[in-house]
Amino acid sequence: MYIILPFAREEIPMIRSQPSCHPAVPVIRRALPADIPAIAEIEKKSFGDPWDQEVFAEALGYFPTTYFVAVVNGVVAGFVVGALEDTGENLYGHICNLAVSTEYRHRGIGAMIVKRAEQQFALELATGVQLEVRVSNKIAQRFYRRLGYREAITIDSYYANGEDAILMMKWFRF
Ligand SMILES: CC(C)(COP(=O)(O)OP(=O)(O)OC[C@H]1O[C@@H](n2cnc3c(N)ncnc32)[C@H](O)[C@@H]1OP(=O)(O)O)[C@@H](O)C(=O)NCCC(=O)NCCS
Repeated sequence: MYIILPFAREEIPMIRSQPSCHPAVPVIRRALPADIPAIAEIEKKSFGDPWDQEVFAEALGYFPTTYFVAVVNGVVAGFVVGALEDTGENLYGHICNLAVSTEYRHRGIGAMIVKRAEQQFALELATGVQLEVRVSNKIAQRFYRRLGYREAITIDSYYANGEDAILMMKWFRF
């Protein structure tokens, strides 16, 4: 059976791709040594007592599987440094550091990288996740609560300036 085309073959109109109007979707991938300068820049703008590049590099050596970056249009927009800790009784994930670049906040990137780290913790058989957050950091506390974390205990003078930390936990339910 023949299909009659309304155009001669050479006259078929081209369908051109249009430039996308949607904001770029972040890609979450494992951090690489080449990401460290960008990670340290985000850190400097996010915290008064930032980790330096050596600490980020050292953590990548220890925890390469639970350390992620969010990349938007080729730019590192956020990171999470996760660690696996074994108490002998329990294996749990630890969110050691997390920040999203100021210009990329409130787009769901923080939630995406935390969920990716949680997925990896679960794959590596952790039973839950813990983290410490400054008592004054209400934005981060609300963010973690939305993700299912709950305040467990307060740790006195946890930070160098004497500020207390709230230890927040989330248990996995399988
Ligand atoms: C905490 C932090 C990582 C959150 O990153 P983020 O990318 O802004 O996080 P999300 O966008 O996933 O969520 C933030 C808020 O934006 C809202 N949001 C998410 N997507 C959104 C969208 N498309 N439009 C508008 N708001 C949105 C969320 O509802 C959330 O609201 P909440 O404040 O009530 O929780 C970020 O604020 C940060 O880097 N802070 C400084 C460093 C820090 O405090 N780190 C944690 C130390 S323990």
